[in-house]
Amino acid sequence: MANFGYSLKGKHTRSVRDFTPEEFMRVIYTARELKARQLTGEHCKIFEGRTLGMVFQKPSLRTVVSFQVAMNQLGGSAIYLGPDQINLGERETVEDVANVLSGYVDAIMVRVFGHHLIEELAKYSRVPVINGLSDFEHPCQIFGDMLTILERKGRLQGLKLCFVGDGNNVANSLAFAAARLGLNFTIGSPVGYELKPEVIQMALADAKTFCTGSKVEQFHDLKEAARDADIVYTDVWASMGQEAEKVERQKKFKGYIIDQELLKVTKPDAMILHCLPAHYGEEIAADMQLDPRSAVYPQAENRLHAQKGLLAMVMR
Ligand code: CP
Ligand code: NVA
Repeated sequence: MANFGYSLKGKHTRSVRDFTPEEFMRVIYTARELKARQLTGEHCKIFEGRTLGMVFQKPSLRTVVSFQVAMNQLGGSAIYLGPDQINLGERETVEDVANVLSGYVDAIMVRVFGHHLIEELAKYSRVPVINGLSDFEHPCQIFGDMLTILERKGRLQGLKLCFVGDGNNVANSLAFAAARLGLNFTIGSPVGYELKPEVIQMALADAKTFCTGSKVEQFHDLKEAARDADIVYTDVWASMGQEAEKVERQKKFKGYIIDQELLKVTKPDAMILHCLPAHYGEEIAADMQLDPRSAVYPQAENRLHAQKGLLAMVMR
């Protein structure tokens, strides 16, 4: 039986901000350890007889498959509960869902529209609740991202990460993670789509609390934001739930793209990340897909390893 010597048993993952820098790094190191063991053919069956409940209000490829496979590889199982099955907060109260599911499963991973649903589930759940994406944050994505950066760059501290585009859920979680892990975070967004001032304030407060010295800066001029960046990261212009704004956003975000032109102002070895799904020709040029600087597919694979690291911490 694997013994990773550290546990965050029972901890909720509502936000990146639920984790101190040390706790965050423990998840990453556990993920790295489990990945290394998997590559040598060793499977750590730490969850025999245990079950993860997965509640989805929105579609998913990476999150649903990586959590399902993570539980399988760790000897447990996962149950997918789609939008029509639970109908969170509509068919019955969130409190009842939390109490009932807590009697069946050992952790609940949930993807929702409104972030308040995650807070409410966590309030009533007797098992750990994991945010698998809300309109405010996407912490599971960021565990995988930081693992990917660490693998490729050998460090996190002092790196400059530039986010291209919408001040959305992924950008919020990245800003919070950067602030607590010592990366400098910039974002280049059109007017009206910036990071919310309170998000910047929270991230800066975290940088101060944890003495990381991280900067968190907002720009409208994308090239200013990306100058000398070690990592450029983007996400769709219109997130799930914003489909009605798609056409308007396509006009407003024009030019907020990772392409060869933008990479002229970054460090020459800048790493390209995208949480996926991607809209090629919008936020990322199609030729970036096979660019040697792209780590997008390893980044997607690392969702699996990061999920295992997180589950191993909060469910053991
Ligand atoms: N990046 C990510 O969360 O992908 P899915 O929406 O496919 O889960
Ligand atoms: N910002 C995107 C991320 C998808 C993984 C969304 O919420 O749709």
